[in-house]
Amino acid sequence: MKRIFDEEQLRAGVARLAAEISADYGTQPLTVIGVLTGCIVLLADLIRQLEMPMRIGLVQASSYRGKATRPGELIIHRDMLPDIQGQDVLIVDDIFDTGRTLDALLRQLQRLEPRSIRSAVLLRKQGRCQVSIQPDYVALDVPDIFVVGYGLDYDDMYRNLPYLAALESDEMGEETG
Ligand code: IMP
Ligand code: MG
Repeated sequence: MKRIFDEEQLRAGVARLAAEISADYGTQPLTVIGVLTGCIVLLADLIRQLEMPMRIGLVQASSYRGKATRPGELIIHRDMLPDIQGQDVLIVDDIFDTGRTLDALLRQLQRLEPRSIRSAVLLRKQGRCQVSIQPDYVALDVPDIFVVGYGLDYDDMYRNLPYLAALESDEMGEETG
């Protein structure tokens, strides 16, 4: 596995993200919605650097696809979503790849009439975007390679790596779809 960002680079990226979010929201109450499962490490690190009054909710976005990123039908599970009507909402996800997940999620959550809604991601992959939106806050940009660690998985493995690594092709089995 090739290391892309070490722990210090991730820490600095998340600190920048937190500083931008803090500068924009100040002491305004915020409802942070993490997108499971990839958000978990970023969410834990990010919220501890934010000082405004905060509620946390979670959604799960799952799509029928292979082990990596083959696109499929996106399903958003909202069982752990608090009432966001009239709230300022910040969606937190691991990576903006094609953008389809975030685009679909924003559309669904808009229907619940939040006061405002923005998005923050750890990573944005270069040259992959298929939608007209971009995340409002991005910690780090990555080239178009498959990365794991710091919450990101391959076939639900590697999320616990404290650094971000690129998977070599011999470490990725054939996609099953
Ligand atoms: P999008 O809908 O194409 O933007 O994909 C977003 C989701 O795909 C992320 O939340 C990840 O779960 C997954 N994903 C995309 N690229 C990678 C990657 O390089 N490593 C691990 N997961 C990825
Ligand atoms: Mg994933």
